[in-house]
Amino acid sequence: MASRTPTSPRLDFGEPTTPYTAYAGIDELHSLQHPRSKEPAERTFIVATQVMELLFAQLRQEWTSAQHALRADDLAGATAALRRGLGVQDVLVGSWDLLATMTPVEFSAFRPYLGEASGFQSYAYLHLEFLLGNKHAPLLDLYAGHPRVHAELTETLNGPSLYDDVAALLARHGLSADAEGWTGIYRSSDPPQREFALFGELLLDVAERVSEWRRRHYTSVKRTMGAKPGTGGSSGLSWLQKAADQDVFPDLWSARNAL
Ligand code: HEM
Repeated sequence: MASRTPTSPRLDFGEPTTPYTAYAGIDELHSLQHPRSKEPAERTFIVATQVMELLFAQLRQEWTSAQHALRADDLAGATAALRRGLGVQDVLVGSWDLLATMTPVEFSAFRPYLGEASGFQSYAYLHLEFLLGNKHAPLLDLYAGHPRVHAELTETLNGPSLYDDVAALLARHGLSADAEGWTGIYRSSDPPQREFALFGELLLDVAERVSEWRRRHYTSVKRTMGAKPGTGGSSGLSWLQKAADQDVFPDLWSARNAL
């Protein structure tokens, strides 16, 4: 068999930037980190925040395309989108590793520079909460001064949640998405219902990862600042605990009690 000589990549673009730099906006990306203190851990905190923000937006895209597929009765398309989302969620959960080594002394060194900034004000995250059905309209006030974001959030708030779209699909098949409905679906040997049961399991994969992200956030907060109040004005840990304890897609969890 003829041996192939490996060819090296091209080096001579002779332009101010490489195609890679231009394509992925690399210069812009690397110009977005502006620590306000001299504490090196602050940069890690900024990068962790930016990575998670990008992933929140990516997850919104996957969940939204799952919704479009559900509306078209395309269960395979919705499954593919949610599975892509699971990959995003796994990286989101793993992103907490970036902050796992930050000590309370390091965090305290730059915390005053945050002012009242808090992840609680993340609109990308708020979209996800709305898509999960946690629709707390007063939170829109955060963006009263930012018309584009306010309009987009209002649309997500008023639109169906991911679970609403699942319920609508089941309803078109004469089925219900309450705990009793899921119990019947899980027990059924009817082929379409077995597919819905598998989809229910996929929704629980999504749910587990949402809770996992919340729990790791809670633990990071406990580790780096204990039970002090948050920069966003909440009681901090106790407030986060409530969110972490909340079941995502509660009907699917309740169905377990009867099965
Ligand atoms: C160790 C570093 C962190 C600490 C100590 C911390 C602390 C807190 C606290 C105390 C809250 C409650 C609201 C408040 O009063 O501020 C909160 C909320 C929140 N944080 Fe963090 N946070 C950290 C890192 C992050 C990162 C990297 C992100 C990613 C963007 C993030 C996203 C959020 C979100 C989305 C909320 C709202 C949660 C909800 O609505 O349930 N946090 N954080």
